[in-house]
Amino acid sequence: MFKKSNLLLQLVKRYFVMDSNQGTLIRYHTKQDYPDKPKEIIPLNKIQGVRRMHAGLFYDKEFSYIELLCQKRYIFACRNVHVANKWVVYLVQGAIYANYVENLLKEESLRSQDLSQIALTYFDQTSDEIELNDDEPGESLRNIPPSEQNQLLEQNPGSHRIEESKGEDEEEFVPRRSAEKKNLRGEKVCFESFKILKVLGSGAFGKVYKVEKKDTKKIYAMKALKKRNLILKNHLGYAVTEGNVLKAANHPFVLGLHYSFQTPFYLYFVLDYCPGGDLSFHLANKGCFSEDEVRFFIAELILSVQYLHSKDVIYRDLKPENILIDEYGHIKLADFGLSKVGMTEGRLARSFCGSPAYLSPEMVNRKGVGKAADIYGIGVVMYELLAGESPYFAEDIPTMYQNIKKAKLKPIKGISSKAKSLVTKLLNRNPEKRPGVKNKNDLLKDPFFKGLDWDDILNKRIRPPRLGYSEDDDIEMPMSSAGLFQDVDYNEKNRNINRVKNFTFVSNI
Ligand SMILES: Nc1ncnc2c1ncn2[C@@H]1O[C@H](COP(=O)(O)OP(=O)(O)O)[C@@H](O)[C@H]1O
Ligand SMILES: [Mg+2]
Repeated sequence: MFKKSNLLLQLVKRYFVMDSNQGTLIRYHTKQDYPDKPKEIIPLNKIQGVRRMHAGLFYDKEFSYIELLCQKRYIFACRNVHVANKWVVYLVQGAIYANYVENLLKEESLRSQDLSQIALTYFDQTSDEIELNDDEPGESLRNIPPSEQNQLLEQNPGSHRIEESKGEDEEEFVPRRSAEKKNLRGEKVCFESFKILKVLGSGAFGKVYKVEKKDTKKIYAMKALKKRNLILKNHLGYAVTEGNVLKAANHPFVLGLHYSFQTPFYLYFVLDYCPGGDLSFHLANKGCFSEDEVRFFIAELILSVQYLHSKDVIYRDLKPENILIDEYGHIKLADFGLSKVGMTEGRLARSFCGSPAYLSPEMVNRKGVGKAADIYGIGVVMYELLAGESPYFAEDIPTMYQNIKKAKLKPIKGISSKAKSLVTKLLNRNPEKRPGVKNKNDLLKDPFFKGLDWDDILNKRIRPPRLGYSEDDDIEMPMSSAGLFQDVDYNEKNRNINRVKNFTFVSNI
């Protein structure tokens, strides 16, 4: 945007970044200053008004103007009227959101200085069993009405995740590799143990950073989840499950967890770093993949999903952006935020969750989902890798749901009959009929994989496709703010605040 300078009537070009989760609108002098050298940080909760303004007598009529009332009055301008309108909408929404969160915290939690009480209230209603700290119970928080909760969810069509809890019973997952706070070497980790290098990706509850462990100089990916947002959006249970699945899982194609720890404000997972980025990134670069490439990725994906199923975990969020590429080009399935444990044969999970474009028909029809929904998910990924877009994609969510329920599958141009046949079978609307649901070998024996040695796949003896990507390529997210990210560890004064029980973990591997 352009900014009207304080004294002159002159407009100067500036670079702005709004981050509603951090509650800030940040002004940079130039784009190159981003993210380390902000000129001004405007707190969104201090915004009193935003409106589109008519160009006054003295203003250049080529521009569209925005007036922002905060601690002082700002006038911004955009060359494009639509961009100006968008900024107004975003600023208003950001201000409402920031105020909402701020008030909630002021009213309820800051009084007791303990967010865990909010969480306890939430989990009482949903009967999810999360053990929080043992502090004596304080006053409870009034519930956020579901209508407002929905407002808090991001309203993006397509790939962004949605969730709607039905209050299922969580069950304990398989034994952990190590639930200790220290490993055999007596090692303890905290926020201070790491140096943040850059942002790798971002999601609904926080960002993923590339970090270096200060003592060993080893590189990891660190996923930070903001407790406040998790609690406000009733998502803490999912984060705890994500941790439990990661702690228990041990498979070549599943992302490995090295440490998890918490500070008063964030939960952290320290994970294998995947320099190859995620498959959605490569898909965007290449348009689509060749059949041989798809065979390789889908074969590794099948083994990772079958592994999770063997542990009675359903994954529920299969999509290219959750499939990461390690330094050698093999996949690592990531993001267990929507996984569900204790899913023994025939059990169905009732929550409505996932990412709209990737939902199975049984999810859209709210019939409950089991392991078969992940098989459908493999089909969706396979389709997208071959075709370049998800099978029933539409610009708006209702149409997409309608398509998932009823529309005819759009044929993919130029693929073999074997590929076509497998993708069609995986996307069968009847869960029972998908290959590998009744007998997992049916999937491994599919003609599309003819000649493939599954032992070779599992033991990484097959050479991965070359994706034309080197570690030096910059895949930094444009909206990142690594330079601005700060946190503090627990200390003597705050040691009882917001602790999520049994979260800390140090791997022995
Ligand atoms: N271990 C990792 N190595 C490299 N990039 C990662 C790693 N983990 C996550 N990312 C990037 O961050 C994005 C978001 O991470 P994810 O765990 O899927 O979070 P969310 O639950 O918010 O979707 C991923 O799509 C990926 O691009
Ligand atoms: Mg994700």
